Amino acid sequence: MNRKKSRTLRLAPLLMAMAIAGAVAADGPIVATEASFQCITHMTPVRGFYVSNLLGHLDATLKAARSPDGAIYPPGSIVQLVPTEAMVKLRPGSSPVTRDWEFIELDVDAQGSTIRHRGYADVVNRFGGNCFGCHAAAQPQWDMICETTHGCAPVPLTRAMIEALQRSDPRCKPPNVLRPEDVEALKTLNAPPKS
Ligand code: HEC
Repeated sequence: MNRKKSRTLRLAPLLMAMAIAGAVAADGPIVATEASFQCITHMTPVRGFYVSNLLGHLDATLKAARSPDGAIYPPGSIVQLVPTEAMVKLRPGSSPVTRDWEFIELDVDAQGSTIRHRGYADVVNRFGGNCFGCHAAAQPQWDMICETTHGCAPVPLTRAMIEALQRSDPRCKPPNVLRPEDVEALKTLNAPPKS
């Protein structure tokens, strides 16, 4: 085996891991793929939501997320509250209107994630809500992250419902054991709307 070939072979697992993560060259555009998304409870929890970083810069994402005064999230950050909605931070200048956030709506099942919608100011979730329409209302220091106190219109979900949706993410292997309160919250979520 010549030298060049053996180097390529040694790099192969790394290149494959990068392709799976959806990450690209250190300074190329950031393109999340369906494989970039995973069981939400395997991401890193921050208060009520979860984060990861496509470029491997989890520490920088956590630093921004944990800053008591708010911060601009670093490129590659993925933020999720529920399994089917994600925000991905792109390179500076990629989408000035959305402060370089890409909004993504996913379908999730035991096989993984399917991207239903992706984009910037025009992505609408399955309940008819425009992601940017709500998230743009966050006070500027929070970089469009809403939580419950940053100035966005609230989501119609209780904390118990959000946790139940997180814990029942069908992509988690092994599945999370649901607590009685999760089962109750899921029943309320799945009940037909009152007329
Ligand atoms: C009705 C307004 C509204 C709409 C529409 C909406 N969100 Fe949110 N979103 C919120 C609020 C409020 C929170 C925080 C809720 C909480 O922590 O209890 C939130 C939380 C999040 C979070 C966790 C970080 C944060 O901001 O607290 C992400 C990621 C997210 N939403 C993505 C999306 C995406 C993607 C869409 C569209 C597919 C979307 N949202 C649509 C209001 C909205």
